[in-house]
Order: sequence, then structure tokens, then C-alpha cells
Amino acid sequence: MTVSSAPGKVYLFGEHAVVYGEPAVPCAIERRATVRVEARDDDHVRVSATDLSLDGFTVEYAGSTDDRPDVDVPASLVEAAMGYIDAAVEQARDAADAPDAGFDITVESEIPLGAGLGSSAAVTVAGIDAATRELGHAIPIEEIADRAYRAESNVQEGQASRADTFCSAVGGAVRVEGDDCRRIDAPDLPIVVGFDGGAGDTGELVAGVRALKEQYGFANDTIGTIGDIVRTGERYLDPDPEGPAATLDETERIEEIGRLMDFNHGLLESLGVSSRSLDSMVWAAREAGAHGAKLTGAGGGGCIAALDPTPETLTALRFTPGCEEAFRAELAADGVRRLE
Ligand code: MEV
Repeated sequence: MTVSSAPGKVYLFGEHAVVYGEPAVPCAIERRATVRVEARDDDHVRVSATDLSLDGFTVEYAGSTDDRPDVDVPASLVEAAMGYIDAAVEQARDAADAPDAGFDITVESEIPLGAGLGSSAAVTVAGIDAATRELGHAIPIEEIADRAYRAESNVQEGQASRADTFCSAVGGAVRVEGDDCRRIDAPDLPIVVGFDGGAGDTGELVAGVRALKEQYGFANDTIGTIGDIVRTGERYLDPDPEGPAATLDETERIEEIGRLMDFNHGLLESLGVSSRSLDSMVWAAREAGAHGAKLTGAGGGGCIAALDPTPETLTALRFTPGCEEAFRAELAADGVRRLE
């Protein structure tokens, strides 16, 4: 038996625009998917996901990846989750040159499905790491990130960036621009997450933005402006010692990052990927005094991320209609963890 875990993430800036080559800065958080893998002596794959949940959002199934599990969430989400596990198995077989390898796989996750916290990337990263190690063929973190990207890209029909998978593999705050992926320094960010209990369909949301971009030049400009926000934001995350942000203290830098997150949310809203519940959580956070707030991930429903060192945003979100769960998210310094 081999066991790996990998973290979820929130986007500080840049989701959607990153699909078109603009930079993005996701940040790994201590909500993990854990994947246990045991090699079989035939070529079958048996998957059981005992808990893909965040309080009250649970998927239970067991069966081969061809079976349709019995669940309490939309079938499309479960199909997507199964697709990521299939794709991870394919990558592990390829990496270990073992095309007929079979596995018993158990997935446990603290990250809700399709809610913008990178559940699919975390399951894919942990799955590839555990399955390759189970076959006696451990691969370096960079290769796990690359193979997880290829797996995710296959499932999302080529409409994926490297951001989610790289962030989950290496941990911390990262900067992704096309194929250029690296960790960056960041201050200790007081991240608060609000979750509306729902989910968005990443493929559909990405396709919607693409359609707007093709139809309207100004939607294309919006994507470029999101890139400008990211380029500005990274100066406050990891200031150039010679640049103007270097004269600010950490609180002032975090305030500026929050302001830029507000801008970023407005632009995502204009691209049609927000929702009433995401907007109302963003406004609840702002009214509670958060430095800034935005949706995270593909949108359509799911989670927002706000910056607030005080308890006010957390309390306000807990009383916001449409917010099912709110929690403080610690930055995950580690990406994939090899547990057994
Ligand atoms: C989804 O978590 C983030 C998107 O930018 C898609 C991607 O980068 O693959 C919407």
C-alpha cells in the first residue's frame, strides 16, 4: 500500500486569464486529498472514494471506473472526478512503463468537488505520486506536476493551465505563466474561505469565457487586464528590494493585495463566471472589513477567498444567506506528501 496526499488551493489572482497565457498566482492551502493505492495482480482498477466532502457534501461510491457510483452530488461532477482518477492511472502506467498495471485506489478528500479549491488537481497529483511509487517507480515532483497537468488537460479537453496542478504538486504560493511555473515568496496571508455548497462546471465556464473573448474585443482586453493585475499583485507579494513596494510593511502589502483581489473579482464577474451566491459572499466579506475578496477557481458557484486577519469576515460569512461553510485557510508549505 502506498499513500500520498496533495493540497487544494485558492487563486489570489489570475484564474481564467491563465488559460490564455497570462500569469496567475494560486496558493496551496491545508485542505488535502489523500490517495491510497495498492497494486493488483490483474489489470483492473477499483476506486472507492469514501469521503469527497466538506461537511454535508459527501460522495460515496465503490466500483470500477466504468461503474456509475451512487451519490448525492450531480453525476457530471462524479464523472469528472472519475475521469481525473482514470487519467492519473494512465499517467502512472505510462511513467512506470507498466501498461497493464491494476490498482485498488481509495480517495479521501477534505476539498469539495468543483468548488474552486483544486480538488481535481489534488486527487490527480496525489494519485500519480502514489501509483508510480506503488509500482516502484517514484518520479520527481516536477514530473508529477507535468503528468498531472497532462491528465487534467485530457479530461478538460485541452482547456487547462498548469496552475492548479503545479501548485498542488509543489505547495506554497506559485506563479504560472504558460509553461513557466515557479514558487514565489508571499507574506503570511490571512485567507478566509466562504463556500456556497455548490460547484461550477470548469469546462463549461472556460468555454463561456472563450466565446466572450472571441465575440468581443473588450472581453479579450479584460483578460489582458487580469494579467496586469497579476503583474501588479506579485510586486506586493514578493517585492523587488529596489521597487516601491519594498518600502511598505507587511500589513500595507496585504491591504494592497486585497484591493487588487477586489479588482480581479470585478473583472471575473464581467466575464460571466461569478454567481449571486459568490457575489453575496464577496460583498459580505468586504462589508465586514476584509482587505479584499474574490471568487476562486472556475467560478459559477463554490468558493470565495478573502483576506482578513480579524474574525469579522469569518463571522459575517457564517451569517450570510447562501454561505454554507466558512473557514480560515492556512497556507500549505508542502505540496505532495509521501505518507507511506
Ligand atoms: C480552474 O481551477 C482554473 C481555470 O483558470 C482553468 C485552468 O487554469 O485550468 C478556470
